[in-house]
Amino acid sequence: MKLNNTTAKKLKRDFPIFKNNPGLIYLDSAATSQRPEIVIRAVDNFIRKENANISRGVYTLAEKATEDYEQSRKSVAKFINAHHEEIVFTKNATEAINLFSYTLKSISPREKNEILLTEMEHHSNLVPWQQMVKRENMELKFIKVKGDFTLDLEDAKNKITDKTAILSFAHVSNVLGTINPVKELIKIARQKNKEIITIVDGAQSVQNIKIDVKKLDCDFLVFSGHKMLGPTGVGILYGKKELLEKMKPFNFGGGMIKKVTLKDAEWANTPYKFEAGTQNIVEVIALSEAIKYIENIGLENIHEWEEELTDYVIKKMREIPEIEIYHPKEKSAGIISFNLSGVHPHDIASLLNDYKICVRAGHHCAMPLMEKLKIPHGGTCRISFYIYNTFEDIDRLVEALKEINKKFNK
Ligand SMILES: Cc1ncc(COP(=O)(O)O)c(C=O)c1O
Repeated sequence: MKLNNTTAKKLKRDFPIFKNNPGLIYLDSAATSQRPEIVIRAVDNFIRKENANISRGVYTLAEKATEDYEQSRKSVAKFINAHHEEIVFTKNATEAINLFSYTLKSISPREKNEILLTEMEHHSNLVPWQQMVKRENMELKFIKVKGDFTLDLEDAKNKITDKTAILSFAHVSNVLGTINPVKELIKIARQKNKEIITIVDGAQSVQNIKIDVKKLDCDFLVFSGHKMLGPTGVGILYGKKELLEKMKPFNFGGGMIKKVTLKDAEWANTPYKFEAGTQNIVEVIALSEAIKYIENIGLENIHEWEEELTDYVIKKMREIPEIEIYHPKEKSAGIISFNLSGVHPHDIASLLNDYKICVRAGHHCAMPLMEKLKIPHGGTCRISFYIYNTFEDIDRLVEALKEINKKFNK
């Protein structure tokens, strides 16, 4: 479905949050997206009519729950062109990266002791690695961010060496909206180091850009269901099957074993060995409805609409001379950070709240990036779009910003 202002307005009606909060302008989908009626109904329906644990009971209800859960794994796999045995369900993207930080050392050659990230990572793709390098006596390195808010690829070429064990980076920056050249970075990495492990943090990209893990040739990809119209509580870890098979489990207990004696245990096959204990069953099942909804619209259409909204908002915001926008010139993914000169971003966000406009303010879990870019107050206001946003949302935002700016700067 081609997205434009008329179709976006129609889609908005599928999201009960807007009916229940008349006049709401939601510009914080990078934090979490809203859920369409079909996703809410899937959650409700499962609990009311189909609730049972999975992979255990032999009664009809339990078998149906297991079937639906595994069907969702297949939908996720198809969504990114993977095999269903390559999909592990976690709690969120953060948990998936923590899993790596405890398990990847065992499959990486001993002499490789560097982990390469970028200066624009979300804390989720930084703090777990900081802990890993302390535990494993390794070293962290960072690809530089340039003044134009893109990655310095020359710096990447220099920092990927035969000592690099892991290269892990965001596909899309959650602060700047920059789309990083994933394919190119992975190609460079493989040319310079055949054993390097590559991880793509897709938390801000899978919902906006069509991803084919085979084409990207990444070893791993992580993302969160709640940023792509699904419920909270589901994260996805994609991994190449041969790598998942070599990796040790992260959590231990029921559901992830083949055989247990009093002294020891054997692990179940991939992906089950990574899914210990009762899973977020209803959330996983409802996620497949979110995927259907997104696929119905089409990721190319979503991306195009976000680009249109981005161009429109930047043009309108530039009418305010006191505004500073932190955004790359090249194509981006519907996330724009800005500040009003002399005004704290928290003040802007709470004043916007009086106009029923939701934006995020602060460091956006990217404190090192704020420091690197020398952003005043260590934070920005961030707007982020999704399929239900319209030109009218932007007009209301910019009018409100003009009024706020007058209060502080005139
Ligand atoms: C780029 C990026 N990576 C990782 C995460 C972490 O996602 P979650 O909190 O769902 O684990 C986020 C969340 O905003 C993000 O923007």
